[in-house]
Amino acid sequence: MAMLNPRWPLPALATWLSAWVLVLGAQRLGVEPWVAVATGLGWSLSWGLQQSQRWRRLMVSAGFPLSWLMLHGGPVGAWPAWAWLVPLAVLALLYPRSTWGDAPLFPTPKNALQGLGQALPLPAGARVLDAGCGLGDGLLALHREYPQAHLQGLEWSAPLRLACAWRCGFAQVQRADIWAADWSQLDVVYLFQRPESMPKARDKALRELRPGAWLVSLEFEVPGWTPHTKLETVPGKPVWLYQAPFGTTASTNRCTAAKARACGQQCQASTACAPTRQPSHS
Ligand SMILES: C[S@@+](CC[C@H](N)C(=O)[O-])C[C@H]1O[C@@H](n2cnc3c(N)ncnc32)[C@H](O)[C@@H]1O
Repeated sequence: MAMLNPRWPLPALATWLSAWVLVLGAQRLGVEPWVAVATGLGWSLSWGLQQSQRWRRLMVSAGFPLSWLMLHGGPVGAWPAWAWLVPLAVLALLYPRSTWGDAPLFPTPKNALQGLGQALPLPAGARVLDAGCGLGDGLLALHREYPQAHLQGLEWSAPLRLACAWRCGFAQVQRADIWAADWSQLDVVYLFQRPESMPKARDKALRELRPGAWLVSLEFEVPGWTPHTKLETVPGKPVWLYQAPFGTTASTNRCTAAKARACGQQCQASTACAPTRQPSHS
């Protein structure tokens, strides 16, 4: 499963199902029930531990033991069978299916964006978007760095959008799909998604961000691009800064004519480009 790298949540569903097939099959063959259950548990754990993210490791590993407890007693055994539907319904409400391919709710750690305002100064009124704003922790961190900026948040989950709007009265928070939204008027797009989302973000930024605008990503790099700057105030949570026009790893630091225009400076084709252009805002 890990080798084939199927779309989430297939690894979880396949592990839960196969663990049950294994346990029931073993019991049919006359294996001691506790040995069969221990085998199912070991199977779930072995697949769970191969997942790249902590929350996925937990979900893949915990599905079989939880469902076994539901059926056979234990702390949750007294619950009626329909009780399963409650957490599932809450999950479906919080994370509509279309957001599963990107990131679930992991908030930006409080100090992760500290220093961003210094590394990337923006004028008052600059348009900054937190694409997938969740509960608003990213917006709060951005607001600390850019109190004068025009902050926007887009979130697909309706309850999260409501909670975010309530927490971030200073920002304009809307329910929308970040991939369908128009990024062309923005000065900064801030993302905290998943490694799998980054190629999509790269393509969209290439298509839509104007020269001088920035793509800022927490934790996950844009594949094939060299960052303009990397900050890391929270260990393990680097902040990657990329400025349009973007280049590939080989050419990002070379000053092209388009880049020189965006930088507002003269530079030689072989020299590194240090963009200084301030974002435009209307
Ligand atoms: C890792 S959380 C980050 C939350 C927030 N940006 C922060 O840093 O605190 C990612 C958020 O993106 C949202 N999301 C994922 N895909 C989305 C999409 N296509 N459109 C809008 N929101 C999306 C998820 O619902 C989740 O709340």
